Amino acid sequence: MNVNIMNVDYSTKIPNNVNLGEDRQVLKALEGWHPGYMDWWSDMGPEGFQQSLVYLRTAYSVDPRGWAKFDYVKMPDYRWGILLAPQEENRVIPFGEHYGEPAWQEVPGEHRAMLRRLIVIQGDTEPASVEQQRHLGKTAPSLYDLRNLFQVNVEEGRHLWAMVYLLQKYFGRDGREEADELLRRRSGDADSPRMLGAFNEATPDWLSFFMFTYFTDRDGKMQLHSLAQSGFDPLSRTCRFMLTEEAHHMFVGETGITRVVQRTCEAMRAAGIGDPTEIAKVRALGVIDLPTIQKKLNLHYTLSLDLFGSEVSTNAANAFNAGIKGRYHETQIRDDHRLQNATYPVLKLVNGEIKQVDEPALTALNMRLRDDYTQDCVKGLLRWNKVISTAGFDYKLTLPNVAFHRAIGEFKDIHATPEGVLIDDATWNKRKDDWLPSTDDGDFIASLMTPVTETGQFASWIAPPKVGIDNKPGDFEYVKIET
Ligand SMILES: [Fe+2]
Ligand SMILES: [Fe+2]
Repeated sequence: MNVNIMNVDYSTKIPNNVNLGEDRQVLKALEGWHPGYMDWWSDMGPEGFQQSLVYLRTAYSVDPRGWAKFDYVKMPDYRWGILLAPQEENRVIPFGEHYGEPAWQEVPGEHRAMLRRLIVIQGDTEPASVEQQRHLGKTAPSLYDLRNLFQVNVEEGRHLWAMVYLLQKYFGRDGREEADELLRRRSGDADSPRMLGAFNEATPDWLSFFMFTYFTDRDGKMQLHSLAQSGFDPLSRTCRFMLTEEAHHMFVGETGITRVVQRTCEAMRAAGIGDPTEIAKVRALGVIDLPTIQKKLNLHYTLSLDLFGSEVSTNAANAFNAGIKGRYHETQIRDDHRLQNATYPVLKLVNGEIKQVDEPALTALNMRLRDDYTQDCVKGLLRWNKVISTAGFDYKLTLPNVAFHRAIGEFKDIHATPEGVLIDDATWNKRKDDWLPSTDDGDFIASLMTPVTETGQFASWIAPPKVGIDNKPGDFEYVKIET
């Protein structure tokens, strides 16, 4: 066994723990891709701040106990690298038709196309989110938040590298072509958009950013978890390491929303407002009212639900049977891991009503992963609602019904209220601004988005974090903005 497997080699142009130094062909292919990546970063990465020193963490090992070190880095100098979790000895395929067979170290020929497609779809989301967030730097509510945004951005860039490595190393010429395409598509572009809906939406303000990192990055977490189960070992190892970075993105979202909710509650209390639905009064305090936060939550949660695809899907069944994509925490589930005769309850539209119907568990895998996702989402809501109730307000943030505001799956052709009551088009059109952010809501939030760049200062609408990044004090200069 290679003793350096845990440590990252920074002697090559592309930091890595996969022995790229001895894999000349792949190293050359990646070095050939590098200039295109840097062009993409300068065109589509964060707007401004490219010459600023940002207090970023960089991975130097994949040991979960101490993999990162913090230092001031200019973003274009960030060392994007190829980092895989250590190879598990004697790992076997944990599900599907190949259950119990040794994990593949090379691409299984029969499943090549499916595997490539899943890697490309995952890869496409990574640069997309950087593109969606590129304008946010100029309205950051603090240097702390600015730094977190950039940390998320450079790591999404690294996740693109992670997928591109797999394409370049294991898929030959068509892998190289796909790697180039990943730099060509653009979020929201009319002619060559990113592949998935939520990744073509705008992220117009910082509340959206926090909602995105809470809800949409969490979809990423679920997808990475299922791919981390993959019988194709290099994919599994790549995803396992990506998950350690992803945790920070969701931390940014969860604590970001907590801080917004907290600030709103503090301001309402100080002003003696007892009813959180008195929107105009609350807004006059320069904070975001809870009903508007609920609308943003409704939007980002439902856009993220769509990322799971159709509830009933033969593609999902095929990927599972093939040993390519497993379930969330597959190895911890107690069943036969083949699911040939199992069923799973799926929410469907039956004669104009939302009903639970038992479907073959294999075709219901998207639904199952989505259920796991929803359970994972609830944790944040409990925390936010605790802040609200502790402040003495009678108001609860909730997840809308899965039939509400959907563009994919069972409920894409109907309208429903957030409570799951089916309604007609006319009612939807009349009420939708009560449930989703309206132009007015967007304008109000935009009016609050003025940048705060003094150390230790925060915008009016958000509370400071409880602790700093890397345990730094409150007035730490997380970004040294060049003037
Ligand atoms: Fe990512
Ligand atoms: Fe992420």
